[in-house]
Amino acid sequence: MKLLLLGSGGREHALAWKIAQSPKIEKLYIAPGNAGTNDIGENVTIKADDFAAIKAFVIANGIDMVVVGPEDPLVKGIYDYFKEDGTLRNVPVIGPSRKGATLEGSKEFAKGFMQRHCIPTAGYKSITADNLEEGIAFLETLQAPYVLKADGLCAGKGVLILATLDEAKKELREMLGGMFGSASATVVIEEFLSGIECSVFVLTDGKNYKILPEAKDYKRIGEGDKGLNTGGMGSVSPVPFADKAWMKKVEDRIIRPTVEGLAEEEIDYKGFIFFGLINVKGEPMVIEYNVRMGDPETESVMLRIKSDLVELFEGVASGNLDEKVLETDPRSAVCVMLVSGGYPEAYEKGFPIKGLDKVKDSIVFHAGTTLKDGQVVTNGGRVIAVSSYGRNKEEALAQSFEGAKQIDFNKKYFRSDIGFDL
Ligand code: AMP
Ligand code: GLY
Repeated sequence: MKLLLLGSGGREHALAWKIAQSPKIEKLYIAPGNAGTNDIGENVTIKADDFAAIKAFVIANGIDMVVVGPEDPLVKGIYDYFKEDGTLRNVPVIGPSRKGATLEGSKEFAKGFMQRHCIPTAGYKSITADNLEEGIAFLETLQAPYVLKADGLCAGKGVLILATLDEAKKELREMLGGMFGSASATVVIEEFLSGIECSVFVLTDGKNYKILPEAKDYKRIGEGDKGLNTGGMGSVSPVPFADKAWMKKVEDRIIRPTVEGLAEEEIDYKGFIFFGLINVKGEPMVIEYNVRMGDPETESVMLRIKSDLVELFEGVASGNLDEKVLETDPRSAVCVMLVSGGYPEAYEKGFPIKGLDKVKDSIVFHAGTTLKDGQVVTNGGRVIAVSSYGRNKEEALAQSFEGAKQIDFNKKYFRSDIGFDL
């Protein structure tokens, strides 16, 4: 099979690594990819949301399946674009329809969906400039801290958590006034939930689903979970508190109602669902849905999937995922992210990356890298994910920290406390 994977981050390198292990793969292309994906497959210089260029490439190269890494092309409707095109109709796209992607593309839609299907989540109210007074009144009924979420996609920056009521009222007005452009023309005000977070992933064909290994990610830049939010500084799988009993609650109260809810609402969904959960005194609740895999969770989750991922994708495309087997690796897998100094604020790019070949017992996934004159250089905030196995998370982490030290580039930074709270 000839498979085209869309995206360019650490998540896509990890997906490419796993996909390429399948004996079914004759040729793997990644658009646009990074310096790491080019070692596994062939990079194609097409942006992941340039549908016309993707179409031309798929036809010219006889692509049999398209797997979508990031949310952007999904929210823009790449699934529907293929379904509605006479020549592309029979090429399966692994990822939800535009309507399905609204679970991530609109917080208001996601909250309404959860309410309709009795899925546990924080209490909320959806506010626009027209009912601002209702929003102010709702804030007054809540306890500090206050959670404000821009309805639309804001590259992970659209959630504000505010310590005082005055700040919350002020920020609500500013968000509605265009702080995040049209993405915050609607704001979801939520009750604050306190607990530890966990990312749960499923692959679904719209009817059947497989639960992939769960993971915890570390979003803050600083050790001890301090400082600014990032795309994610590391991940650990499995998550100790996500034991059998807890995962049964997740499946019964959250996963099954979500998949059944999508079917009931006739929303076409063939792809990954990422449940951003929080453990509130032993009870799982949904913080958010994403319609793709997590990054950097994928860089540990892929290590724990033993089965052929491409065969699972075939089950997704054909609607017989129930006939496929998902076998997981009992070992721990972790990833430690090396980032550019200054990230998540301003940082420089283009620094040569050295020592990649010195790492022996970890798997090095590239995130923000590119090739310049034959040399791998930094090309983003998150640069390299160092992933490792271990009999437990301590052993795996020790391995990743060792690898993290061997790789070097100007102003390299990583958190040396990944997994500290588990
Ligand atoms: P989101 O983009 O919805 O994942 O929100 C970003 C982060 O804000 C989450 O990962 C949580 O850490 C935090 N957060 C979001 N909603 C809530 C909530 N209702 N209560 C507590 N923390 C939240
Ligand atoms: N790691 C969180 C995300 O991918 O959104």
